[in-house]
Amino acid sequence: MGSTSLKIAEIRSQFFMELEKVCYAKDVEALKIRYLGKKSPLRGLMQELKECKEEERPQFGKMINDLKEEIFHHLDHVLQRLLFSEENSKVSQEKIDITLPGRKRFLGHMHPVTLMLKKATDILIHMGFSVQLGPDVDSDYYNFEALNFPFDHPAREMQDTFYLNTETLLRTHTSNVQVRTMEKYKPPIRVIAPGRCFRNETISSRSHILFHQLEGFYIDKEVSFADLFATMEEFWSRLFEKKVKTRFRPSYFPFVEPGLEVDVHCTSCNGGGCKLCKYSGWLEVCGAGMIHPEVLQAGGIDPEIYSGYAWGMGIERQIMLLYGIDDIRKFTENDIRLLSQFY
Ligand code: DAH
Repeated sequence: MGSTSLKIAEIRSQFFMELEKVCYAKDVEALKIRYLGKKSPLRGLMQELKECKEEERPQFGKMINDLKEEIFHHLDHVLQRLLFSEENSKVSQEKIDITLPGRKRFLGHMHPVTLMLKKATDILIHMGFSVQLGPDVDSDYYNFEALNFPFDHPAREMQDTFYLNTETLLRTHTSNVQVRTMEKYKPPIRVIAPGRCFRNETISSRSHILFHQLEGFYIDKEVSFADLFATMEEFWSRLFEKKVKTRFRPSYFPFVEPGLEVDVHCTSCNGGGCKLCKYSGWLEVCGAGMIHPEVLQAGGIDPEIYSGYAWGMGIERQIMLLYGIDDIRKFTENDIRLLSQFY
């Protein structure tokens, strides 16, 4: 059995020779497999033990196990040392040069249309209105017919409206929310409807096929013109962040009677006359009126008992007025130089 102890000594010295050559942590694993794995020479010796004398077996078994433990211990020791030095050299190589100038970070911004919609909506929620959203793709009925548009009204022509088929269209205004809401709720109704609108227009600095509106309406017993005036003064003053004077001019919209156009004293010159208001002293801000009895009826509300007012404003127009932007196309051009000025 002298040969067994010789073999153990040989394996041992072979192991230490190889261990000395190991330079990287990943090689330690390979050595571990070679000396402690299933096909290691020590495993082979264990098999051979079966053939040696019974009284010698425990002694050689112990020698093999001691060597296994010794190998394990040294492998672990070398592994820790190599991992430590590899980590150190990695850290020193990746050292950050804090003297280099930093890269400027750009924060995302809200689109001015989103900001204006949010601002107007927040003000009106505080004034007691709740939000109802209508569909962008709607029926001719809610967009026109229920709103008292006669069949031959020019707005119903293909030139002005994107029809998807004879019955379905892209809504041309947020007024399409009115009758829908009346069908769903009983008065008092105090609702605003912000959203996208579409019109088959030639795109220019003043008109676009895609724009945004905010519609508002209030229906209850004894709602009068005085309520509309008061709401307009309050709302526009809050939106322009100063007390503004309002003016009402008669106008025509099929779904209101009487219909009117709301002007506010020019926010830039306070009525004195400037380029923004084309020297008139007034800015046209929205259409409004008392809801037509036919429209109330279409919504299942008795016009003998209830009355209401409504108004509708263009969002892009308000931003253009407030910030002196002269071209509506700028809202869809995504020029970061313009957009980054709004937050
Ligand atoms: N829907 C109209 C438009 O797009 C705006 C409007 C005018 C809405 C008068 C109203 C209103 O509610 O009363 O031009």
